Amino acid sequence: MPATIIMGGQWGDEGKGKLTDALAANAAMVVRANGGSNAGHTIQTDQGTFKLRLVPSGILNPHVRCVIGAGVVIELGTLVNELRGLQERGIDTSGMMISDRAHLVLPFHKRLDQLEEQRREQDEIGTTLNGNGPAYADKASRHGLRVCDLRRPEILRRKLAIEVDAKNQNLAGVFGDPPLEFQPLYEDLLELTEFLRPMVVPTEVIVQDALHAGQRIIVECAQGAMLDIDYGTYPYVTSSSPTAAGACQGAGVAPSQVDAVIGVYKAYTTRVGGGPMPAELLDETGELIRVRGREWGVNTGRPRRTGWFDAVAARQTSRLNGITNIALTLLDVLDVFDEIGICEGYRVGDLAISHVPALLDELSGAAPDLKFVPGWSQDTTHVRDFADLPLEAQKYLNVIETHLGAPVRYVGVGPDREQLIDRLHA
Ligand code: IMP
Repeated sequence: MPATIIMGGQWGDEGKGKLTDALAANAAMVVRANGGSNAGHTIQTDQGTFKLRLVPSGILNPHVRCVIGAGVVIELGTLVNELRGLQERGIDTSGMMISDRAHLVLPFHKRLDQLEEQRREQDEIGTTLNGNGPAYADKASRHGLRVCDLRRPEILRRKLAIEVDAKNQNLAGVFGDPPLEFQPLYEDLLELTEFLRPMVVPTEVIVQDALHAGQRIIVECAQGAMLDIDYGTYPYVTSSSPTAAGACQGAGVAPSQVDAVIGVYKAYTTRVGGGPMPAELLDETGELIRVRGREWGVNTGRPRRTGWFDAVAARQTSRLNGITNIALTLLDVLDVFDEIGICEGYRVGDLAISHVPALLDELSGAAPDLKFVPGWSQDTTHVRDFADLPLEAQKYLNVIETHLGAPVRYVGVGPDREQLIDRLHA
């Protein structure tokens, strides 16, 4: 029963969307497992550039059925706009399905996300302000509204009224914010529901049926494993599990149904938002990586922090997620460097450590133990076969393989669909 998980091994933005789009050509279904409209997956085809937030990255393959799984939190307005935008560009969205168990992100979640960030002041997480954290908090504390609630207006009305009332007490009492009105919010939801209604199904049943029929399924994670709520750099994390285990849970796939876990890593490190990043480069090298990698957020436009490849963090995510294959993206960004750094360990005070410590103070104070390897100083963007990569680039990939304990199968050398090398298909 073949399911492939595609997940990010760093702090997100590794290029999962592009890989998912490419591998979807040989799959029957793509299931998005976690996150919400905080994600931004960019895919470049000959039809132009597509920026997806909630719609699975298989959507540009007409034969692929696309599922938003139970683990995703959905802001209906964003989803409807995204689907309408795709339809206007001639993309067939008739294969879209939405889990009736997925939770809703409502306007008060967004407002609370903003207010909570403001209250954190200099300790702000740097969230995408899309309401994801408060929506997952409501899910865990069993206050959430789910997609299935939309099917029955009377149920929606009752539950929404309770939540609006409770949130208004919080917004006014704690933050001194004006209350939200129930009626326009309720009517908005009913209107958006009309558009989405035909797509709402028990996706876990359909996913299992497909697996039992022997169809290839790709489970697509958003964000990256270093943003995982359990094993990431807490509290500077997202509120879901962008991991192999989270992928199974969010998509409705059993671990025993997974035969490949593809860890997508950039050839260097980026992070957006606050929190520790031991291999960060605050100098002109970091700036050059940012410019060459076009490292600005898809949704927020924020500049991403950049650094050399952090092998300590990457090794942790590879091991904890049982990565079977690595997809190393944006290798071409490093084409101009004489030598390339790899963070092989951290120094915390006098102590050398080779794991990611849980204590934020330790990680924030960790200095990178850098090793430098020779660069290849030549353009790789035209390379399509692994064997044609410069020798020094192949050696760099070998070093990463050794640290992560998994083989590099895919290598990205540019944003276009065809700029993805598959080592096994020369
Ligand atoms: P939230 O998920 O919006 O609550 O943001 C929590 C943290 O995760 C912040 O540091 C965000 O910048 C980060 N984050 C959330 N989604 C993404 C993503 O798709 N790519 C990279 N970072 C993300």
